Amino acid sequence: MNPPDLAELRARVLEANRRVHARENARYLTRHPEQTNAFQKRILKRTVRAVGRELPAGARVLDLGCGTGYLSLPFLERGCRVTGVDLSPEMLEALDARIPEACRDRIRTVEADAESFLAEEAETYDAVLLSALLHHLVEVAPVVRRACARLKPGGLFLVFFEPLKQAVASPGRFAWHRALARMDEGLYRGVMRLRRVPLFDDEYEESDYQRRFGGIDPGSLAATLEDEGLTVLEVEKYSARRFAGFAFLGTRLLRTPNTFNLLARKNDS
Ligand SMILES: C[S@@+](CC[C@H](N)C(=O)[O-])C[C@H]1O[C@@H](n2cnc3c(N)ncnc32)[C@H](O)[C@@H]1O
Repeated sequence: MNPPDLAELRARVLEANRRVHARENARYLTRHPEQTNAFQKRILKRTVRAVGRELPAGARVLDLGCGTGYLSLPFLERGCRVTGVDLSPEMLEALDARIPEACRDRIRTVEADAESFLAEEAETYDAVLLSALLHHLVEVAPVVRRACARLKPGGLFLVFFEPLKQAVASPGRFAWHRALARMDEGLYRGVMRLRRVPLFDDEYEESDYQRRFGGIDPGSLAATLEDEGLTVLEVEKYSARRFAGFAFLGTRLLRTPNTFNLLARKNDS
């Protein structure tokens, strides 16, 4: 793709993200129970605790694509100083409404595209967090490389809740995986209808750019991180579903993960 085409594509995908997240706004997490059900909450809590334990008191944390504060708020509540970056003013407004008064002086929010923010930012951080951001980008590696440059030596890089790109290991198990997904989705739609929560998943086609390639490949992400002087500490794969029971069955019984988290540390130079 030549540079003008790429620039045009990036602008289109940014605009699609602005549009869909303007509609998501304060009800984002209501519409996405796959991020808040009991199964996922346990993963979130365990991850925040594991990362938080490694950080110094008052650590500086950068949350790229922070949305309504899924990761920003738990780190803020642990005493960190958080910078949250998001291109959607509506999502940032929803985050603002959730900030506990006692923590307000430790959070800065910036309305910007992550890549442009990183190109200008001079600050360095003890941790960089990206939850469900990478699949929205046209090019993943340049953003990851710039984010690595903003980490202090010894700092942590967390990629959380990204759609996992992988080959189908067992067609039989995959058929069950699809059946489970259909049940999960059918039930979800029924519940949302009853709760009168409008859904607009058709509008996600352009904004979830990397889904057309099957998601994010943790292997190539790890290679980019290692190339930037980080060591990958852990890759966790699991099945995210709207309902905890389906997530549990997909993860433990079928072992057909569709989502991953990755934790890496910047080497001391
Ligand atoms: C799937 S939501 C995840 C929000 C939050 N991190 C979470 O896990 O709940 C993706 C967020 O990334 C933001 N976003 C999408 N593309 C972005 C970009 N290029 N730069 C900054 N933010 C972006 C969206 O506005 C949205 O708030």
